Amino acid sequence: MSTAFDHPEYNYKVVRQFAIMTVVWGIVGMAVGVLIAAQLAWPALNFDTPWLSFGRLRPLHTNAVIFAFGGSALFATSYYIVQRTCRTRLFSDTLASFTFWGWNAIIVAAAITLPMGFTSAKEYAELEWPIDIAVALVWVAYVINFLGTIAIRKESHIYVANWFFAAFMIMVAILYIGNNLAVPVSMFKAYSIYAGTVDAMVQWWWGHNAVGFFLTAGFLGIMYYFVPKQAGRPVYSYRLSIVHFWALISIYVWAGGHHLHYSALPDWAQTAGMIMSLILLAPSWGGMINGMMTLSGAWHKLRNDPILRFLVVSLSFYGMSTFEGPMMSIKTVNALSHNTDWTIGHVHSGALGWVAMVSIGALYHLIPIMFGRKAGDMHSVKLINVHFWLSTIGTVLYIAAMWVNGIMQGLMWRAVNADGTLTYSFVESVEASHGGYVVRVIGGALFLLGMVLMAYNVYMTVRTANKEAENAVPAQA
Ligand code: HEM
Ligand code: HEM
Repeated sequence: MSTAFDHPEYNYKVVRQFAIMTVVWGIVGMAVGVLIAAQLAWPALNFDTPWLSFGRLRPLHTNAVIFAFGGSALFATSYYIVQRTCRTRLFSDTLASFTFWGWNAIIVAAAITLPMGFTSAKEYAELEWPIDIAVALVWVAYVINFLGTIAIRKESHIYVANWFFAAFMIMVAILYIGNNLAVPVSMFKAYSIYAGTVDAMVQWWWGHNAVGFFLTAGFLGIMYYFVPKQAGRPVYSYRLSIVHFWALISIYVWAGGHHLHYSALPDWAQTAGMIMSLILLAPSWGGMINGMMTLSGAWHKLRNDPILRFLVVSLSFYGMSTFEGPMMSIKTVNALSHNTDWTIGHVHSGALGWVAMVSIGALYHLIPIMFGRKAGDMHSVKLINVHFWLSTIGTVLYIAAMWVNGIMQGLMWRAVNADGTLTYSFVESVEASHGGYVVRVIGGALFLLGMVLMAYNVYMTVRTANKEAENAVPAQA
């Protein structure tokens, strides 16, 4: 069905659909995040109900925020950017529509099966085998559609954002299929073909590269398009962006061993993971600096452009989390941070500060265009500004609380008395963490509130655009 907002040249429908679903899934995933954060502060909120318990809702949160929210943002922006920068319509509208409905059906299947307790027990790859097969099919359709669009491009140059998107989707296909290889034993149970330490290494080869390619490379594609667009400046150094690309993708794949320090993984593999992680600081900061420097001569725009603020602050969090990550990969530092809330703080400085904020900034730029308005022309710029502050304060509260908790937990767990006995029992460290957990609930709730304001702002923008379109029809007739 065609609408008043269909573009004569490009397929904007699928971009519109994914953009709206990003906001919807963002609210769902973060609401579950706030609930599980509250459960850690007040365990009574598990309500003694299996499908409401922390253990089942935690993977629902991670799947919803990474794959439903983050994934929809990536689909929307990559489909938009590839068409604009290749000056051609998507390779296939049918495949585009298949990816939209397929991806959303998978999300619904995940939202039903995870609380029911169906899980492969592999982090970020919990879905059982029938859903995995659906993911593989939808993903392959996505890759064909994206690369097919590049193949039929009318612009000879392939813009750097498309390189990042292509690497993200090809690597995710390889990793997802590789890590999920399993032998089904019933409709909802399969066993991994890997065992023991090999299983752990394959799992973290996936896990770390889910971070590197899903949560980083894809969002860098977003950054390389929307930061220059919103700042109204060309990217600071195109040469640096190419060096950044090749360095990042060739180093990330070797760093997964840092998730398995002091485990049964051979010591050399742990050390290799650590060294690669330290080297990774350089390309990560190269990209961050490239984004930041794009604002040279346009810094004054930050004063009254909250969309640009979202984008720039997301880059600061990207820089911060990619400094923290290499530090945490050093074995002696990891001995303190591993299994503590410090890791959770690191995760969310990347997830909220970088992934969510860069997506939000891009969507505020993109959504008005999808409804026939100018870039960034949302219903209320004031509300975008309020959203910006809620997100920033929410993220800072979340990660600061987790740093304090994490370092305290690490120190309490290793404290020993003169006679060699432990100074603190585990439960004492849990009690001491309560304050931090409450602060995290507040931070998370602020971030979620910002998303609700965004939904309202998007709704009003679409409503106004619809009214304008209705009024325009008789005028033309
Ligand atoms: C309102 C915002 C959010 C809140 C309140 C929240 C809360 C939480 C909580 C309580 C946990 C479990 C921590 C634990 O087991 O100790 C968690 C885990 C996680 N969250 Fe969030 N979250 C939010 C947003 C996000 C977003 C936007 C993303 C990704 C884009 C994300 C990614 C993750 C990941 C990857 C984990 C697992 C971390 C690990 O295993 O180390 N979260 N979150
Ligand atoms: C140079 C870049 C980075 C390096 C070297 C790095 C390194 C690390 C290290 C050492 C850990 C702790 C592993 C452990 O003790 O179990 C970790 C955990 C994690 N990091 Fe990073 N990090 C980087 C960037 C990022 C970014 C940008 C994000 C998010 C967008 C992110 C998301 C995560 C997640 C989700 C985990 C938790 C995995 C889990 O245990 O479930 N990291 N990272």
